[in-house]
Amino acid sequence: MKRIVIDCDPGIDDSLALILALKSMELDIVGITICAGNVPVELGGINAYRVLKLLKREDIPIYLGDNKPIKKELVTAQDTHGNDGIGDVLPEITVPKGAIKLGAVDFLIETLKESEDISIIALGPMTNLAKAVERERGILKRAKRIVSMGGAFRTNGNCSQVAEFNYWVDPESVNIVFENVDKPIELIPLDVTRKIVLTPNYREYLKQMKNEVADFIYNITGFYVDFHWMQERTLGCVINDPLAVAYFIEPEMCSGVLTHLECVESGRAIGQTLIDIGNFYRRDTNVFINTEVNEKRFFELFFNSVFPENKKDNELILKGY
Ligand code: RIB
Ligand code: CA
Repeated sequence: MKRIVIDCDPGIDDSLALILALKSMELDIVGITICAGNVPVELGGINAYRVLKLLKREDIPIYLGDNKPIKKELVTAQDTHGNDGIGDVLPEITVPKGAIKLGAVDFLIETLKESEDISIIALGPMTNLAKAVERERGILKRAKRIVSMGGAFRTNGNCSQVAEFNYWVDPESVNIVFENVDKPIELIPLDVTRKIVLTPNYREYLKQMKNEVADFIYNITGFYVDFHWMQERTLGCVINDPLAVAYFIEPEMCSGVLTHLECVESGRAIGQTLIDIGNFYRRDTNVFINTEVNEKRFFELFFNSVFPENKKDNELILKGY
């Protein structure tokens, strides 16, 4: 089992990523840390708890980080994910006392200090990771792997012409993290996630499954589908974060290049990821940026991990008849 900490801002696609990670036979989630991004951090914690409760894994600890990026004011994406951050369709829940704790940064530091066998899958702004570095400069060098969903290379941004949301929310944290690693961060940018579309066909399949987890995914993605049609004329919805989890499990489903990344911290291009392909300006390499993905392989892994009992139907749907 690969031991991981998931740092996330649930968030609809974060929730699907958590479901995939929890259902994977290969991953041991030692904890979930919440960063402010899609929603304020308290809401992110509640949504993470919803997923753990759905999959009967309330044993996994949830830790909240600060509700503010390193320098910028928090700008959320509740227009995309709903006011509650999970599609505005689920009833309110009561979270048992103690199920969600404070101290995300302490947890990250302590966990990485205890073992060099822990990897981090970062699915939101990098605030928690950056604050861990500010407190213990070399701490991220103890992580076995760091996979981050964020940035945009040759594709347009989703917060401006050039900026992707996670890195746009807290650009300072991106540079603090990328300047304090000794292994390249494995990046899952919009260039590959835009190919991971939960289509109307896939959503109808979920609806026909008539099971609790499939219903949950179908229900929370409705708001996200409406946003995608309104905003981008996309039919279906781009599920960014599950690709970071699937890639962590099976890196072969993507391919890319080793290079250098830095993030623009001010001005009209704030949040833009400057990728120095060919290392003409920066000789050091701090990122492996994935630029290609086998999207069919992603959906095979996703459906067969989350719904292993439906393997035959999964093959039928994935084969496209
Ligand atoms: O730009 C997409 C990313 O921003 C995803 O992680 C989504 O959940 C939001 O956090
Ligand atoms: Ca996210």
